[in-house]
Amino acid sequence: MSAAGEHASALRGGGGTGGPGLLITFEGPEGSGKSTLIVSLTAHLRALGRDPVIVREPGGTAIGERIRAILLDPASVSMTAETELLLMVASRAQLVRETIRPALAAGRLVLCDRFADASVAYQGYGRELGPELVDRLNAVALDGLRPDLTLLCLLPPEQGLARIGGRAPDRLDAERLEFHQRVHAGYRALAAEAAWRFRVLDAAASPGQMLASALEQLRGLEHSLLTGL
Ligand code: TMP
Repeated sequence: MSAAGEHASALRGGGGTGGPGLLITFEGPEGSGKSTLIVSLTAHLRALGRDPVIVREPGGTAIGERIRAILLDPASVSMTAETELLLMVASRAQLVRETIRPALAAGRLVLCDRFADASVAYQGYGRELGPELVDRLNAVALDGLRPDLTLLCLLPPEQGLARIGGRAPDRLDAERLEFHQRVHAGYRALAAEAAWRFRVLDAAASPGQMLASALEQLRGLEHSLLTGL
C-alpha cells in the first residue's frame, strides 16, 4: 500500500473508536440542516436523561474557536487554500486531544458538528488540494481516532445555498456554486469509500423526518449508550 493509501485508511478503514464511548459526526454541505438536527437530537437525548458531549468544527475548544474566527471571517479574503487546510487540521488536533479523546475514554457519547471528512470534502475536493494531502494531515490530527458513525445530510448544492440565502455569508458560504458542487461530489465519494460508517440522510425531508431517520441509524449501532432511544 502507498504512503497515501495507508494514511487514507486511517479515516476510511473500519473500526470506530473501539473504546467505551461513541463518536458520531454530522456532515453535509451548507444549508443541509445538520446543525438543526443536532439541536433536536440533543433535546431528544436529554429528555431521555442522556448527557451527550456536543462539539463543533472548526472550533469546539477555546483555541479552536479562535482559529474558527480567523477561518470564517469574510476579511480573511487573502487566505490560501493550504493555510485554510492547516488551520482546520490544527483546530481538529486540539479538539481531539483536549475534548473528544477524554470524553470517549470516560464512556461518553460525543456528537460532533463536522469533523475530518469536512476537510476532505471542502479542502480536498472544494479547494482541489486533493484527498491524499488532506488524509495525511488529518492523520496527524486524528492520531488513529475514527468516528463510529457519520450522518451525512445531503441535498443539492443549489437548494442548500438557497436555504442560507437569508443569512450573512461567512467566507466559505460565499464561495461560488462550482465550489459547493465539488464539495457535494466529495461527500458522495467519501460516503461510497467508507460505507461502513456513513449513513446518508435526505436533507430535503422535514426536520421531524430527519430526526426520525437519525434515531433509526443510532438504534442500528446497537451500542449500550444508545439503548432505549
Ligand atoms: P459550519 O457552517 O458547519 O459551522 O462550518 C463552518 C464552515 O467551515 C463551513 O463552510 C464548512 C467549513 N469547513 C471546512 O471547509 N473544512 C473543515 O474541515 C471544516 C470542519 C469545516
